[in-house]
Amino acid sequence: MGKDTVTIIDNSTGKSIEVPIKRGTHGPPLMDIGKLYQELGMFTYDPGFVATGSCESKITFIDGEKGILLYRGYPIDQLAEHSSFLEVCYLLLYGELPLDNELTNFEDMITHHTMLHEGLKDFYSGFRRDAHPMAVMVGVVGALSAFYHDSLDIRNPTHREISAHRLIAKLPTIAAWAYRFSRGEPFAYPKNSLSYSENFLHMMYSFPSEDYEINPSAAKALDLIFLLHADHEQNASTSTVRLAGSSQANPFAGISAGVGALWGPAHGGANEAVINMLSTIGDVSHIDKYVKKAKDSNDPFRLMGFGHRVYKNYDPRAAIIRKACYDVLEDMKVDDPLFDIALKLEEIALKDDYFISKKLYPNVDFYSGIIQRAIGIPTNMFTVVFTIGRCVGWISQWNEMTADPAMKIGRPRQLYVGHAKRDYVPIHHR
Ligand code: SDX
Repeated sequence: MGKDTVTIIDNSTGKSIEVPIKRGTHGPPLMDIGKLYQELGMFTYDPGFVATGSCESKITFIDGEKGILLYRGYPIDQLAEHSSFLEVCYLLLYGELPLDNELTNFEDMITHHTMLHEGLKDFYSGFRRDAHPMAVMVGVVGALSAFYHDSLDIRNPTHREISAHRLIAKLPTIAAWAYRFSRGEPFAYPKNSLSYSENFLHMMYSFPSEDYEINPSAAKALDLIFLLHADHEQNASTSTVRLAGSSQANPFAGISAGVGALWGPAHGGANEAVINMLSTIGDVSHIDKYVKKAKDSNDPFRLMGFGHRVYKNYDPRAAIIRKACYDVLEDMKVDDPLFDIALKLEEIALKDDYFISKKLYPNVDFYSGIIQRAIGIPTNMFTVVFTIGRCVGWISQWNEMTADPAMKIGRPRQLYVGHAKRDYVPIHHR
């Protein structure tokens, strides 16, 4: 094999440079173009970062062609079957599956950080009751930085660790309170006797006036949803958290930026959009009409929950959630017509040349709303549930970047296509 480099030749000048190739454990090699401008006087151009790697990472690997997802090397289907969300949080944060005592200590640590500063309760009253809960999440998560001045030295590993614990622990409380506020209901405080997912259900649905019995199937389904959403390499919201963190902003501000990025319907907001789409379709007899709209390049309608920048095969998470739908709907004794529409829509789309040729398969968002509906989560809270799951991925990726002494501020360049330099014209001469 020749030199591990790529030669880039500028045919307009004849200049050429040797660019080193970086190879990882899995996945395609990358060209290290760090010296491209210095040696060739050029930038790269890749809007949407379709073929651009932004960092090195040991956390998550995705093979989009084969539909493979690994958290610290462990396949997602094995983790979904054998692990729990908090065990996966430990794995993503620390890099290894915990020993018995390590998991117990970690669970205990998270449990004892679920409470919020009482001052944060007042933030909710400033929102309109009909505010989208993701708007509340952006605001209250960002506000955490106003309460934790004792742990904002990002170069201090202990500060980074306590911030990670606080964010993982407090997101369900912040989320449940956003839901309760929207309904004018009293906030329910976390109970340390409950598991992570049981606690979220308790804070969402329990009332001081009566005992609340947690449905174990609902808690198990929620734990799976959190686990499957925990991390996903350098997706839009994770890249947002990394870019915000690269300015050395505190982790709460960076995670709040990630919450905002996740909200978009092209990203984490798709789960809410899928249910709205299935409801609009309304009946399996209408599917062909909407598939036709999705294929029409002049029609902005897209099949929400279909397609993915990386997966050009079935999203492994969608396969797991699809299977879990049957179990949860049966356990919860729910007969959801939207699930039937989703199954039929998938069947029709996957036989259609348009979707086959463009390698458009169901992604994680296509079925997650069905499960959430079955356990009583309202549609406008679906992306909030995604946020709770993804927070550990964001903070693990932020920690990996911030722990690197070589961390540099992210500062992409551009292709300027505006006016050439020109002189100011006084208003009476325009
Ligand atoms: C998530 O990045 C991640 O890892 C994200 C995520 C995570 O865990 O963090 O996996 C979570 O965000 C999943 C994606 C959820 N979004 C949706 O389901 C929204 C619907 N999907 C599309 O908006 C789209 O597929 C994206 C945004 C997901 C991906 O867009 P790309 O990679 O930029 O692809 P594209 O828009 O260029 O589409 C390629 C072609 C286009 O046709 P042409 O211009 O080539 O003719 O496929 C078409 C698109 O028009 N297409 C679709 C389609 N998705 C793409 N046509 C109909 N319906 C769709 N859903």
